[in-house]
Amino acid sequence: MSAPLRLAVLISGNGSNLQAIIDAIESGRLDAAICVVVSNNPDAYGLERAVRHGLQTRVVEAGDYADRAAFDAALRDCLEAFEPDFLVLAGFMRILGAAFIDAFADRILNIHPSLLPAYKGLDTHQRALDNGETRHGVSIHLVTAELDGGPVILQGAYAIEPGETAADLQQKGHRLEHAMYPQVLYWLGNGDLRIDNGRIYYQQRPLDAPLVYQS
Ligand code: GRF
Repeated sequence: MSAPLRLAVLISGNGSNLQAIIDAIESGRLDAAICVVVSNNPDAYGLERAVRHGLQTRVVEAGDYADRAAFDAALRDCLEAFEPDFLVLAGFMRILGAAFIDAFADRILNIHPSLLPAYKGLDTHQRALDNGETRHGVSIHLVTAELDGGPVILQGAYAIEPGETAADLQQKGHRLEHAMYPQVLYWLGNGDLRIDNGRIYYQQRPLDAPLVYQS
């Protein structure tokens, strides 16, 4: 048996995905350890969640550094000290530079509230509504230097019903997210999922389309 995955979770806000991962670990559904929770925002509610569960926390604030490269270097130093296997971006609202991403190549995951490659960037729910979409969803992807552009590992979709608001969609998305992130981490831990040189392998076969989350 290999050692439990060491996860560094990066947040900027509420941290409900962090909570879902904590809950999966504490209930024994996920064999992993959160070695640190890092926020770029000292007021992130997710930091309180982390403390409540006895996790180590760190804050690295962009305002304390001269430029993006200096911030990224500080974040990297902070994270490396905890020797994480994976960086789990969970509502982390900073763009990371190429040098940072290279330093953790194949080891950074992100969750994005759309069916990528559709709706990269912000405000995905409202933009989907404005375009009259009938379907939206969530993607977990490998982070590469292209914003929201790395290979997608797992997607979960939901229907948009007439009259629904962006808040409704966000809630539907969160429900999926909270099941999907622990699932992907579970697969990484048990070896079903492997990431090598920017390619995703599921049960030893290269993925040429995202896995589809079945609830
Ligand atoms: C999630 O909706 C995720 O898709 C996006 O940021 C949000 C974070 O929510 N990247 P939370 O902080 O985990 O509650």
